[in-house]
Amino acid sequence: MSLETSYMGLALRNPLVASASPLSQTLDGVKRLADAGVGAVVLYSLFEEQLRRAALEDARLVDAGAESFAESLTYFPPQVEDDAGPRKYLSLLERSVAAVDVPVIGSINGVTPTGWVDYARAMQDAGAAAIELNIYYLPGDPRISGRDVEQRHVDILSRVKDTVSVPVAVKLSPYFSSTGEMALRLDEAGADALVLFNRFLQPDIDAETVAVVPRVTLSTPAEARLPRTWIALLHGRLRASLAATTGVETSVDVAKYLLAGADVVMTATALLRHGPEHAAVLIDGLSDWMARKGFAAVGDLRGMLAVPPGADEVLYERQGYVGALRDANTGIYEH
Ligand SMILES: Cc1cc2nc3c(=O)[nH]c(=O)nc-3n(C[C@H](O)[C@H](O)[C@H](O)COP(=O)(O)O)c2cc1C
Repeated sequence: MSLETSYMGLALRNPLVASASPLSQTLDGVKRLADAGVGAVVLYSLFEEQLRRAALEDARLVDAGAESFAESLTYFPPQVEDDAGPRKYLSLLERSVAAVDVPVIGSINGVTPTGWVDYARAMQDAGAAAIELNIYYLPGDPRISGRDVEQRHVDILSRVKDTVSVPVAVKLSPYFSSTGEMALRLDEAGADALVLFNRFLQPDIDAETVAVVPRVTLSTPAEARLPRTWIALLHGRLRASLAATTGVETSVDVAKYLLAGADVVMTATALLRHGPEHAAVLIDGLSDWMARKGFAAVGDLRGMLAVPPGADEVLYERQGYVGALRDANTGIYEH
């Protein structure tokens, strides 16, 4: 049986990818993920705020150096060395690439069109097999138009594509008025993969303390339905690879994403909940399921349950929706 998979031109031993999370914040974490058998590792994101802070630090160092003796130009204040920003990130990336035999993908989390390019190049130079652009942009200002939000995504991608030669993936949110058209535009702008979807970490309200609490919640398998629907709708319609992210808890969830048409299936929650070693359980479970169902290779099942090319996507989705409501109205619910 073969689990081998191609993801944006990278040859992976299997389609399970560790998505960006605190698990890849250390070399030991990256090694544990690779040892557990994942096909690739996406490092946690370097945040645009860190890039800006680093730029300010650099400007301060240049000023400081101008007033000092030549040898002081090599001087780095302790807070720069401690900074969990770009230098530390690039060092971890370089060490990870040297330490593991699976592709390591660098990730940048940003909002504005500037700031991505230099660090995408630096990540490529540090050995990243690919770059993932985590465009975490919630247009909170109600005057921002949907077209502007979309153009921002295309601009960021185009700039990075003009700069690096490694493949570039775009991690998207699901909040577009026409997710399919956004996907097509990014595909045309040269995206090598689309990662569907990021989860916005929506703050909660604590009614006892009467305060807003920024809280990270892990996902549940039910949340996989939205990305899975979009993967099923986009499979076979783009040049870019499709990566699924959100709601993987068991190997069945991995299989379902592959059936919908995902090229790779990412997980953060399951590995945070059960430890990096859980990747082996997911991969073994996928193999067992494939053997039970008589699939010899991942390619044999990928996209089997995607919306068929040439089908009327709206009608297809509408039929499922109407059918589901009809069932619900006759009392057939999933509890
Ligand atoms: C604690 C935590 C930290 C995360 N950090 C990042 C990050 O740095 N960059 C990123 O692109 N996604 C990040 N994510 C999102 C995950 O990579 C993933 O896309 C999302 O959690 C959905 O997948 P899951 O259901 O398997 O968790 C983070 C998620 C969690 C729970």
